[in-house]
Amino acid sequence: MEKAVVVGAGAMGHGIAQLLAMAGFETWLVDVKEEILDKALNQVRWSLGKLVEKGRVREEEAKKVLERMKTTVNLEDAVRDAKVVVEAVPENLELKKQVFGRLGKATQPNTLLATNTSSLSITEISKAVEKPERVVGMHFFNPPVLMPLVEVVKGEYTSDEVAGFAMDLARRMGKTPILVRKDVRGFIVNRILISMFTEVCLAVCRGEATIEVVDAAVKYKAGLPMGAFELADYIGLDVAYNISKVMEEAYGERAKVCPELEKLVKEGKLGQKTGKGFYDWSVGYPRIPFKLADKYDVWRIYVVSVNEASWLLKEDVATPQDIDTAIKLGTSWVQGPCELGDELGLDLVLSRLRELHMKYKEEIYKPCPLLEEYVGRGWLGRKTKRGFYIYE
Ligand code: 3HC
Repeated sequence: MEKAVVVGAGAMGHGIAQLLAMAGFETWLVDVKEEILDKALNQVRWSLGKLVEKGRVREEEAKKVLERMKTTVNLEDAVRDAKVVVEAVPENLELKKQVFGRLGKATQPNTLLATNTSSLSITEISKAVEKPERVVGMHFFNPPVLMPLVEVVKGEYTSDEVAGFAMDLARRMGKTPILVRKDVRGFIVNRILISMFTEVCLAVCRGEATIEVVDAAVKYKAGLPMGAFELADYIGLDVAYNISKVMEEAYGERAKVCPELEKLVKEGKLGQKTGKGFYDWSVGYPRIPFKLADKYDVWRIYVVSVNEASWLLKEDVATPQDIDTAIKLGTSWVQGPCELGDELGLDLVLSRLRELHMKYKEEIYKPCPLLEEYVGRGWLGRKTKRGFYIYE
């Protein structure tokens, strides 16, 4: 049986390990403490139980999956004969480089080394390994067992063969891979999510809306599966904060860290996993009142996400199709930002951005030059049969 190893047994790590075991690999989960590994295996048992309950996996198969899963605190021993290693330790560049330094020495020269980083530079991480061409980004979405997307990210040194292997591996794990053409911070999905989060944080910080008001509008008017603050709590505020810091460093004022998020993280309130975050999770999932949905204008999150998609296109990170697929599969939005922009009308999106920029002087509303160019050419979306897409 081929061997796979996942380093880091947190929310993402144990889910990725479960997927590898479900794909037939003998899968070793590595972390620094036995207690963490025991907890991770319990979560895998729970998840497999759910999949059996829903008829997605047969009981005998679930047993075999568990038999294929092993745990250890000894990284070097685990990876020695592995075909694939996926790193899922916390989002800290120095820590990741340390782990990759050890992986580079302890693995066979042809072992695939993937990082599940949400936002950090694949190129930087790969520099810790003697043969950086075998390092690739494989960014999974929370919860990895249910979310169908993997962003496969090539660093500067990643070979085409390794990127192709990562794409095949994602497919073998039952996922749809999207190749991210450039190693930009936040890749595709987190760029769009952070633009939305920056806007809603500004709205709350300016006192224009409460967290519940925003989330009611996001859920019931925009039709997203979770409110923006609810989602941040769900993925973990420490995770959201680390991503935000990387994004702020890369994009400056356009991706300012939300002060409320920073405050909660400093207080140790990390969302669902600690019972408190933007919401109180000790009583279960937040109850977001439907009646508040009209008190925040969801056009504001629409226009910032269409604007961010324009930046991704301008930087040639992905095609409109790949941006839309990534958002739909990675976050369960019904429409991707390029489809949405074309439907709303790019001229209306642009004029709303200009209005918001004039009023608030915030970078997040500054229109992307590509959007201005499209509108200038009369490419306004569906209504002119040309926008991000061409319509027959
Ligand atoms: N394994 C198996 N089953 C699971 C599971 C897991 N890991 N996690 C949840 N389930 C179960 C639930 O318990 C539930 O079972 P139940 O019906 O018996 O209670 C079932 O799956 C489905 O749950 P729901 O009925 O709540 O179904 P939903 O339709 O609401 O789906 C969801 C849940 C898929 C999480 C949906 O709410 C969703 O898509 N939310 C958005 C998530 C998202 O955006 N993720 C990406 C975040 S960004 C990210 O990860 C990037 C990173 O870099 C931060």
